[in-house]
Amino acid sequence: MSALYEVRGLRVDVPLGGGLLSAILPGGKKTLNILDGVDLTLHSGETLGVVGESGSGKTTLARAMLGLTPAAGTLQFQGRDLAASNLRRGTAMMFQDPVSSLSPRMRVGEQVVEPFTIHGIPAAERTSAAELLSRVGLPPEMAARYPHELSGGQARRVCVARALALNPALVIADEPTAGLDMSIQGEVLNLLSGLKRDRGIGFLVISHNLPVIRHAADRIAILYLGRLVETGLTADVFARPAHPYTASLIAAEPNPDPRKRRDDLAIKGEIPSLLRRPAGCAFHTRCPIAVPDCALRPPALRAIGPDRQVACHLAT
Ligand SMILES: Nc1ncnc2c1ncn2[C@@H]1O[C@H](COP(=O)(O)OP(=O)(O)O)[C@@H](O)[C@H]1O
Ligand code: SF4
Ligand SMILES: [Mg+2]
Repeated sequence: MSALYEVRGLRVDVPLGGGLLSAILPGGKKTLNILDGVDLTLHSGETLGVVGESGSGKTTLARAMLGLTPAAGTLQFQGRDLAASNLRRGTAMMFQDPVSSLSPRMRVGEQVVEPFTIHGIPAAERTSAAELLSRVGLPPEMAARYPHELSGGQARRVCVARALALNPALVIADEPTAGLDMSIQGEVLNLLSGLKRDRGIGFLVISHNLPVIRHAADRIAILYLGRLVETGLTADVFARPAHPYTASLIAAEPNPDPRKRRDDLAIKGEIPSLLRRPAGCAFHTRCPIAVPDCALRPPALRAIGPDRQVACHLAT
C-alpha cells in the first residue's frame, strides 16, 4: 500500500525575535525548535492519531503538513513533494476551534458550499448543500440556520460537511472534540470513523485527550516536546506501552469507574519548556526509570516489532 502522506525528518524552527528572551537563553538562542525530526506515514482509509500534552507541537505539525508553516525535511502527499502535489485540493483541515471558524453572518448552507467558490469549481461539478449536510447526518433545513442557532455538535458536523465538499483524500482534524460533552464527542468521532470507512479518507486526528485518540485512531503516534516517543497500532500500544511516557499517560487516563479514579497524576513534574528541552532523552526529568546515560544520549526512534517504534534506551 503506498502512503497517502509521508513525513520524514520534519523539523520546524521559529524565530524568537531578539530582546530579553533570547538574552536570557543559553547561548543567546534566536530560534525555538518546535519539531525535531518527526517521521509519520498515513495511509488512505486509516486514522492516525497524534497525541501529546499541550505545547508538544501538535498544531505546528498539522500546519507544517499543510504547508502553512515553513519546515525542513521531506513532506510527500500522494507520492509528490508538497509544493508539486495536489495538497490544496486534496486536503481539508478542521481547525481547533471550528465554531469560530464559521462566519457568524453566513447561513449554514452557504458556508458548506463555500469551498466551491474559493476553488472556482464549475457549477456542474458542485455538490448541493443538502447533500453535503446529509453526509454528516444533518437535515436539509439546517441550511437556513446561522451558526449561533447550532448546538456544539451540529456546528462540528457543519465543519465536517464543509471539509468534505471537495472530496478530500486527507482530513486533518486538530482537537476535533475539544469543548464538547462526552456524548457529543462520541457522536463526532463515530461520524469521522464512518467517513473513513465509507469514503476511504485518510484522517490525521490530533488531540491532547488520550481517550479520544484511543476511540478514533487505528494507529497512534505519541509526541513529547516535539519528538515522537512511540508509534504503533492503537490496540497494541494500549495493551503494552513500550515507552515510559506512554505508560504514564495511559496510567493517568481518567477512569470511567469513580471508585477506581485516581486524583494524582501518574506523570510527576511539569512538562519542561521547549525553550529548555532537556538534553539527551527529553523525558529524563520525569521518567521513573531513567538511568544516568539518559541525560547524555538522545534515544533514536527504533523498530521493536512490526509496525511498532519506540524512542527509549531501555525499551524492549
Ligand atoms: N510562531 C511561533 N512562535 C513562537 N512560539 C511558537 C510559535 N508557534 C508555536 N509556538 C510554541 O511552540 C510550542 C508548540 O506549539 P503547538 O504546536 O501549538 O503545540 P500543541 O498544539 O501541541 O499545544 C508552544 O510552546 C507554542 O507556544
Ligand atoms: S531513554 Fe531513559 S529517560 Fe528516556 S524514556 Fe527511556 S528510560 Fe526514560
Ligand atoms: Mg494545539
